[in-house]
Amino acid sequence: MKICCIGAGYVGGPTMAMIAEKCHDIDVAVVDLNEQRIAAWNSPNLPIYEPGLQEIVEERRDKNLFFSTEVKKYIKDADVIFISVGTPTKSYGIGAGQAAELGYVEGCARMIAEVCEGPKIVIEKSTVPVRTAEVIQNVFDGYEKGDLFEILSNPEFLAEGTAISDLENPDRVLIGGDSTTEAGKKALETVVGIYNNWVPRENIITTNVWSSELSKLVANAFLAQRVSSINAISAVCEASGADVDEVANAIGKDSRIGPKFLKSSVGFGGSCFQKDILNLVYLCEHFGLADVAEYWRQVIKINEYQRKRFTRKVIHSLYNTLQGKRIAVLGFAFKKDTDDTRESAAIYICRDLVEEGADIVVYDPQVDAEEIKGLTSEKVEVASSAAEAVAGAHAVLVLTEWDEFKELDYAALYASMVKPAHIFDGRNILDLAELEKIGFNAFGIGKA
Ligand code: NAD
Ligand code: UGA
Repeated sequence: MKICCIGAGYVGGPTMAMIAEKCHDIDVAVVDLNEQRIAAWNSPNLPIYEPGLQEIVEERRDKNLFFSTEVKKYIKDADVIFISVGTPTKSYGIGAGQAAELGYVEGCARMIAEVCEGPKIVIEKSTVPVRTAEVIQNVFDGYEKGDLFEILSNPEFLAEGTAISDLENPDRVLIGGDSTTEAGKKALETVVGIYNNWVPRENIITTNVWSSELSKLVANAFLAQRVSSINAISAVCEASGADVDEVANAIGKDSRIGPKFLKSSVGFGGSCFQKDILNLVYLCEHFGLADVAEYWRQVIKINEYQRKRFTRKVIHSLYNTLQGKRIAVLGFAFKKDTDDTRESAAIYICRDLVEEGADIVVYDPQVDAEEIKGLTSEKVEVASSAAEAVAGAHAVLVLTEWDEFKELDYAALYASMVKPAHIFDGRNILDLAELEKIGFNAFGIGKA
């Protein structure tokens, strides 16, 4: 069997590397128009940082895993084609700021229709609005090749930073297809068969295409909603003297609620939560479900509120002026163990602090200095260690929960700072009492 995946990004790269690793008899080609990205996949410096990825890629590359810019050639040769291109929020015209930009997906559908002459299974791996398969089918029909293709939905649930373990041991694999026709059933069986090389059959769910497409948006909406829920409660904790970690632990012990995704923070980031909720909101409005749309919109509003609330607390604690004050920001990625900064809370917080006149210096173990400056301001300094960032600072902000920030020598950092020295733990990973003992004015999220 030959697989071609269009889109060598955070999803296409790791997902296909895992298929190649688990199925040595399948040839897997990951193609992209972006030459630099493909060159990086073929080099020792992969274009994305993901624990465990490098080893798998190095083991399978040029055996049954190939990265190429020859998009059309590999599409033509493949039996199964995954579409794993971006579906960002549309920034113009109707639906701007909410609807998903489906231009890249449509572009793939057109390219597939143009070059393919034999039957193929075409799989939506990208996160798409419900009924996108209909759009793809329309494109194929327009080329009078509608009968050549079976369109399936197979959304990806991996989280960045844990992509390899998520792919190796997924809670479930979801495959949507048309089980009412023989060709549909056969296509479903083929894709189930690929995953069943390592995922137990009972963890592979098959549904109709619309349920599969919608489930992906709903999964992300529910996850983001939990973060916004606990973040909303963190404000109540600060006002009331309760401790958000204690509350999260107490409610999380209820097996109906469960302990995961209850970590209060500066707000969720990442390329998908906000975009997928906006997409859901747009769909609800499209279906005339204004109240449902409003319900989900609140998840994003609380996220914005949480970021602003954190910034306000910093300003207020530093005596309402940041002019000429040096602020060290530890962590810029949207979560630990990734170099991805898309929608990271740190971007918004840094921009607001620059606006207030602060001198910002950022340290992140994985994020590129130029990227940090590009996303914030040329005025922002980038340090190559936490100690370098913190020396001479009035305040430290922990914005990503990198493990190394738990191990820092905070007494030494304190000694190198301007006094009174403030520390704001935006991830609740530090022991505030210990920091207070050292001499810091220490603040957490949801801690009175
Ligand atoms: P990405 O931006 O990292 O990668 C997409 C790639 O597609 C880019 O390299 C781009 O050059 C390429 N591309 C676009 N049009 C192309 C074309 N016509 N031909 C060839 N290549 C083309 O995006 P990503 O983070 O991998 O996300 C892809 C999809 O997966 C999105 O729909 C996203 O919502 C979804 N998703 C992402 C994650 C995640 O953790 N990032 C998790 C689950 C699902
Ligand atoms: C998320 C989902 O977890 C994946 O299942 C999904 O496939 C993916 O989105 C996607 O569709 O893109 P990801 O964004 O990579 O994965 O990372 P998460 O671990 O979900 O974290 C998202 C954000 O929420 C991060 O900024 C994280 O710091 C924050 N978060 C998460 C919290 O603030 N508290 C928590 O308890 C959990």
